[in-house]
Amino acid sequence: MRIFTQKADILNFILEKKASATIGFVPTMGALHHGHRALFELCRAQNEVAVASIFVNPMQFNNPEDLQKYPRTPEADLAMLEAAGFDAVFVPDAEKLFEGEDFPQPDLGSLNDVMEGKFRPGHFEGVYKIVWLLFRYVQPDKAYFGQKDYQQLAVIRRMVQQEDLPVEVIGCPTVREADGLAMSSRNMRLDAASREKAAAVSRYLLSLQRHFTLSAAEMKAAFEALTRSLGFEPEYIELADAVTLQPLDRFSGAPAVICMAYYAGPVRLIDNVTLN
Ligand code: PAJ
Repeated sequence: MRIFTQKADILNFILEKKASATIGFVPTMGALHHGHRALFELCRAQNEVAVASIFVNPMQFNNPEDLQKYPRTPEADLAMLEAAGFDAVFVPDAEKLFEGEDFPQPDLGSLNDVMEGKFRPGHFEGVYKIVWLLFRYVQPDKAYFGQKDYQQLAVIRRMVQQEDLPVEVIGCPTVREADGLAMSSRNMRLDAASREKAAAVSRYLLSLQRHFTLSAAEMKAAFEALTRSLGFEPEYIELADAVTLQPLDRFSGAPAVICMAYYAGPVRLIDNVTLN
């Protein structure tokens, strides 16, 4: 596996390959787990050249402590990519990566007014810009993103459309621990008690997916009561249209998604399930 730290070097590698091979790409922030691994497996299976990136993108962190405490496990990350049979990984450093770049001005429309867009100002602009930049140097035919970050996936699809990029965006199902907790790099920051209680919140969400008869208002009240009873701080839970992500009062049978965010102590967790 080739490891590139300079954008000119990965671009050269890509340009050599691209004439005769399809390029698959999985962007990540490292601290890799089995959720990431599922993306790597699909990418490896569907492309001749498989490329990942590991970069904790400062532009998308609206909270400095979250950025500072973001887990970093570089050696294990490279071992996982090597084992997944990846051809290359791009591990840039921030200063050099941003040097001389003229970013597009993100237009996120109403996607930015709800849920993660509303509660994390600037977050999706940062995601939009970094993925745009990474695509510029990796030039993927296909790029892989998890449904764990459902709204992010919608933002990436919009970015590709707005910037008119020849990239197929592929969404991959959320990978969960055996007890229901959605895998996340941030789970490493949970102590054993919080880890167990967080799994109970995810199981509540999965129970909503199995049989959803509540109004959005009833769901919000139940979520608030559950998270508070566990000693967590609820941020939001929304029932939303699966495509536009605009809030719904009731589930009509048309594809919808339930997205939630809460704090387990200092650790902010998100999860979602789709309804259809
Ligand atoms: P990161 O959180 O490292 O996630 C990288 C990719 O893995 C994302 O597409 C995310 O949705 C996916 N992923 C994470 N946990 C998952 C799980 N349990 N099941 C399935 N997929 C999962 O998301 C980012 O990094 C960044 O915002 C990035 C897109 C790299 C831009 O900086």
